[in-house]
Amino acid sequence: MREWSATMRVTEPVWFDEQNESWRIFRYADHIRVQNDYATFSSAPAPHENNEAANSIIAMDPPRHRQLRSLVTPAFSARSIAQLAPRIEEITQELLQPLLVQGQMDVVAQLAVPLPIIVIADMLGFPHENWPLIKQWTDALLSDSSLGQEESSQDLEMPLTQEQVMILYEKMAHTIDERRRHPRQDILSLLLTAEVDGEHLSDDDLYAFFITLLVAGNVTTTQLIGNAFLCFDQHPDAWQQLRQDPSLAPVAIEEILRCLPPNRGTGGARTIIGGRVATTDVQLGDQLIRKGQVVKVTTISANFDEAQFPDPLRFDIRRNPNRHLSFGHGIHFCLGAPLARLEAKIVLENLLRLLPEWRRYKDVPLRQVRSNIVFGVRNLPITF
Ligand code: HEM
Repeated sequence: MREWSATMRVTEPVWFDEQNESWRIFRYADHIRVQNDYATFSSAPAPHENNEAANSIIAMDPPRHRQLRSLVTPAFSARSIAQLAPRIEEITQELLQPLLVQGQMDVVAQLAVPLPIIVIADMLGFPHENWPLIKQWTDALLSDSSLGQEESSQDLEMPLTQEQVMILYEKMAHTIDERRRHPRQDILSLLLTAEVDGEHLSDDDLYAFFITLLVAGNVTTTQLIGNAFLCFDQHPDAWQQLRQDPSLAPVAIEEILRCLPPNRGTGGARTIIGGRVATTDVQLGDQLIRKGQVVKVTTISANFDEAQFPDPLRFDIRRNPNRHLSFGHGIHFCLGAPLARLEAKIVLENLLRLLPEWRRYKDVPLRQVRSNIVFGVRNLPITF
């Protein structure tokens, strides 16, 4: 993939993918152009597209996008998120402590999956004891072909039954009802009292927001944490560097995001991550994109663009500046970036403190997530 996109950046940086009937762009500068020009490259579903995600801010254009996103921006600002550090530390400890005596663990299943779900459920005010169900639900939502996952729900590790979906919807309805009567200091209460153009959010908007936040933040952060282990497994020297200077953790996380972006950025469902629809005929490089055509970004290619990153193939945990596009760019820049960064930082700090000598357990083969949106592994056993 890296070699192919390096060639594409030179030979066909704006390329029509016949099979998926969409444009794919490979150069960093073109990503910036597309993501900045939201009037020409719209995030909203085109009329012929499946409209399932239309109520989510990720698939909206201004002014509605701005109105809705601004309701939750304060809750996700770097400052608000920093205040969650003690709680995230506590959850990390609760997950890690029982495993420490065992000398082995699966970092994906036992840490990287539950941590982000519990954190976001807490923030939303949704009972986090349901995290395994939320995980199954997220997988099932992402397995929907309209959301771009290649595996069908039958392939999922723990397929979700209709009954479980009902349970989740009931729990969500119950939580919303309860919060309507007794608001608290959580995002749900904030959304319930919020007004846009003098009106409260409709139930559809409310559910869509809730689900977006619950889902957008968990698989991606899981993959970021898993990918951190993958990177250090491949680059033990970098792990030693980090051990010598743990203050490098935040910079190292950016390099992990650059080299192994949790989102490939080529989603089958362009409305979910990274895809746009041209609202008018537009020239991009030497290609003419026609009104209504889909344009997909290829994050993994932009992040290795030699025009932006010196020596792009080098994994350098001191790389600075590092303006990778793994959280997107422009008005849809990932709302949860400060949260994902903080969770990854706390995990790395705990690892440095508690398991500095971890090793990947190589007898068990890694299983890739089979998705054209998400990049990462489903399991990562380590010993320590
Ligand atoms: C948007 C990646 C974690 C919530 C995005 C976008 C990307 C992205 C690439 C832009 C999509 C586009 O332009 O179409 C990631 C990665 C994460 C992560 C790689 C983890 C490493 C989170 C977390 C949350 C979150 C923890 C928290 C709830 C969102 C939301 C949007 C978004 C709500 C839509 C923003 C908008 O449309 O204005 N994310 N994300 N993400 N992300 Fe994240």
